[in-house]
Amino acid sequence: MVDRSSGYESIAAQFMNIRSTAIGVRRVRDWAKTLPRGAAVVDLGCGPGVPITEVLVGEGLTVYGVDAAPSFVQAFRRNLPNTPIVCEAVQDSKFFDRTFDGVLAWGLMFLLSAADQRRLIQRIADILVPGGRLLFTSPAEIGFGNDVMTGLESRSLGAEEYRLLLSEVGISVVGEYEDEGQNHYFDAVMKQVR
Ligand SMILES: C[S@@+](CC[C@H](N)C(=O)[O-])C[C@H]1O[C@@H](n2cnc3c(N)ncnc32)[C@H](O)[C@@H]1O
Repeated sequence: MVDRSSGYESIAAQFMNIRSTAIGVRRVRDWAKTLPRGAAVVDLGCGPGVPITEVLVGEGLTVYGVDAAPSFVQAFRRNLPNTPIVCEAVQDSKFFDRTFDGVLAWGLMFLLSAADQRRLIQRIADILVPGGRLLFTSPAEIGFGNDVMTGLESRSLGAEEYRLLLSEVGISVVGEYEDEGQNHYFDAVMKQVR
């Protein structure tokens, strides 16, 4: 079977054993609090749903998950049984055929090819409502590297290109910051009028 999870399916058990239960939680919780309770948020590359998706659910948001690794989808359904998830690659997901008040992509963007990152940014713009919020992580510096978990090639387009690509589709970066694990966040908002 073709792996669409950028190598994560084959290391799913290991990832679930070692993924810190703290890294990113405070940043994601602060972001979740900027959305009204009940707001619809899709978590792209949500993994097993713990700890990150769980934060969104805990903040009273209406959460949807998308992940391409079947083992994570199974674990997500165990961890968050009332939260819908689809086992799809973001490159061809239909994103539940709906729009969202928020899109989160924690630890996903830089796993995709440069072309797929550019297309995903466009697709995110298509599913974000006016005034909707986007939060994703990717290194601020342009560069190729190896994903720490899978050892497979990863790539960041760099802060300058991310800001430009986002502005081309009506999304403005309103903040950039790091967390305790040195993950770099792009906090962005879709313009009010489309
Ligand atoms: C670094 S992990 C982050 C997981 C989770 N967001 C977290 O914070 O623990 C990357 C996740 O992206 C998923 N993924 C990788 N490539 C994907 C793709 N093309 N489409 C959907 N999910 C993908 C992997 O299966 C994995 O769950």
